[in-house]
Amino acid sequence: MQVTVFSAHPYDQNSLDTVAQERLSHRQVTLVYQTAALSRQTVPLAAGSDAVCVFVNDQLDAEVLEQLAASGVKAVLLRCAGFNNVDIAAAERLGLFVARVPAYSPEAVAEHTLALVMTLNRHTHRAYNRVREGNFMLDGLLGATLHGKTVGIIGTGKIGLATARIFKGLGCRVLGYDPFPADAFRQLGELVELDRLLAEAHVVSLHCPLLDATHHMINADSLAKMKKGAMLVNTSRGALIDTRAVISALKHRHLGALAIDVYEQEGPLFFQDRSAEFIDDDVFVRLMTFPNVLITGHQGFFTHEALREIAETTLGNLEDFLDGRESPNAVRTGH
Ligand code: NAI
Repeated sequence: MQVTVFSAHPYDQNSLDTVAQERLSHRQVTLVYQTAALSRQTVPLAAGSDAVCVFVNDQLDAEVLEQLAASGVKAVLLRCAGFNNVDIAAAERLGLFVARVPAYSPEAVAEHTLALVMTLNRHTHRAYNRVREGNFMLDGLLGATLHGKTVGIIGTGKIGLATARIFKGLGCRVLGYDPFPADAFRQLGELVELDRLLAEAHVVSLHCPLLDATHHMINADSLAKMKKGAMLVNTSRGALIDTRAVISALKHRHLGALAIDVYEQEGPLFFQDRSAEFIDDDVFVRLMTFPNVLITGHQGFFTHEALREIAETTLGNLEDFLDGRESPNAVRTGH
C-alpha cells in the first residue's frame, strides 16, 4: 500500500511519519512525499500509489481524478476540512473513497482570528518594527477598545462557535448568522439576519464553508451594508470575498480594516517562498499596500496540536479505507 502525499512540507512529514509509526507499523504502508501540489501537470507523480493525500490548494477536478483513477489510485485523503477543491460528483462516479478531517482544533483557527483582530486593531505589527528602529512615537497606532464592541460571526459551526466564545470572553456583544445555526450559539450571542449583522458589527468574521451559495458573499452590496470603519476578517476561504470590491471599499474609506488568512487566488502564492520573485497578481499586491490590511498565508490551522490531529484523522481515514469500513469522515455529494 503506497500513499503519495502532495504539497508536503517538513512539518507534514514529521506529523504523518510520527503517527504512522505509532498506528500503522503493523501494516505495509509507505508514505511518499512530494513537495509539488497536485494538478493536471503533477498527477503522474501519483503513479504506483493506491491513495493520494492532499491539502487545500491541490486541485482535484474531474480530469485529475480520472487520471488518478486510471493510474490505480482508489482513495483521496484530505488533510483539511474544506473540500471545495475536489469534484466530489466525479470522485463518486469513479468509485474513489474520499475522506477529510472535519475538525482539527477549531480553537487554533479561532485563536488566529483573535490574533489578526488584535494585531490590526492595536497595530502591533507596525509597533514591532517601529520600536526596533528606536521610534517610540504613538502616532498612527491608535486602536479601539474591543470590550463592548459588536462582533458578527458568519457561520456558527465549530470554528465560529470557538471564535464567538473568545469574543464573548473579551466582553464583546456577539451576533451570529447561519442558515443552520448551532444551538450552542444562543448561550454566546444573538442569532440575526445577515443584513442586521452587517449593519451592527464593528468586526465581521467569516467562518462558513465555500459553497456556490457563499461564493463572493462579501461583495459590493454586502460591503455597503457594513458599518463605516468596520473590520472584515476572513480565516475561512478566500473566495467568500470579492477582493476587488473589498479594495474599492478600502479606497473609499468605508471598510476600516481587512485581515485575511486566505485569498481567492492563493494557490500560486501560499505555502511557498516567493520572496525572490515578482508577484504577478496585481490585486494581491494592491492589497499589500494598505496599512490597514493584514495578510497571513493560511496559517490559521498551524499549531502543534492541530497538525497532530490532522495526521491522526488522516491516517485513521486510511485505516477505514484499508479495512473497508464506512468512514465517519467520508465526503459525498450533498454533504
Ligand atoms: P463547520 O462545518 O463546523 O461550520 C460551518 C458553518 O457554516 C455551519 O454551521 C454551516 O451551517 C454554516 N454555513 C453554511 N452556509 C452558510 C451561509 N450561507 N452563511 C453562513 N453560514 C453558513 O466548519 P468549521 O470547522 O467551523 O470550518 C469553517 C470553515 O473554516 C471551513 O469550511 C474552512 O473553509 C475554514 N477553515 C480554515 C482554516 C485555516 O487554516 N484558515 C482551517 C480549517 C478550516
